[in-house]
Amino acid sequence: MIIDILSDLHFDYYFKQFNNSNKDVKKVYDRYFLHDGRAAGDVLVVAGDLGHYNSQNIILLKMIKKIYEYRAIICVLGNHDYYLDGLVARDDYENSFIRAKELIELINSQDGIYCLDGNIVEIEGVKFGGAMGWYDDAYLKHYHPLRNFSKKSINDMWKDNMPDFSMTEGIENFDDLYHAELPKIEAVYKECDVMVTHINPSFQSEHLSKEFLNQQTNTFFCFNGHKFLRGTTAKHWIFGHTHDSFSYEFANCKCHVNAFNERAPTMKSVYINNEG
Ligand SMILES: [Fe+2]
Repeated sequence: MIIDILSDLHFDYYFKQFNNSNKDVKKVYDRYFLHDGRAAGDVLVVAGDLGHYNSQNIILLKMIKKIYEYRAIICVLGNHDYYLDGLVARDDYENSFIRAKELIELINSQDGIYCLDGNIVEIEGVKFGGAMGWYDDAYLKHYHPLRNFSKKSINDMWKDNMPDFSMTEGIENFDDLYHAELPKIEAVYKECDVMVTHINPSFQSEHLSKEFLNQQTNTFFCFNGHKFLRGTTAKHWIFGHTHDSFSYEFANCKCHVNAFNERAPTMKSVYINNEG
């Protein structure tokens, strides 16, 4: 099975309206997806950050599946999928968790499109497991041990540097969702062939984007998933959030990010043997 890897589609950034023609969609994505008239891969993984509007996300996922003839699309949510963008969204949803829950349910009600949230989906013998995941303070503690960051100081840094606080409702601390998401990763990492999270499971500098080398805010782009990488049955771990395209290997698990932006002008694909 060939798995195409993408993340950070940010539909609302690239499409200013909800309903788009096939031509509009192909204009944005053909350069990624098209190989001899159709998608190269059998399954598309989208590792989070679909977009700010649930209904637009569904319309575009369905169109991508149909136009590029994917057998299945596997998603997880990202931090942007918790955002309440504008007054309309704030009126529509009491908090970010209600929006995220609605999006997961909407995705899973589509034919051949799945949103992993601490569960496993098997496609033609290949088990995909995952959840959004979230960042923690592992990077700061490892690379700045003498700074002795308090929770308050990390929260202040988070609020100053990440829109994740101001754009959401109901998330009070930088690591609230980390604690909520961890059991979902625990539940699946030993049972699957491919793991998907939005957040990078390694906090080691050499596994992060080179662009932000040594920056303290790297902590909001990764978590200490070393235990999971060592213990997982997955051969590939696909993540997003970092707007970059690179791969690394950690304890026999190959980790990949391929965010949709100008730096990843081609699809990244992996082959996984599903014939036993
Ligand atoms: Fe993100």
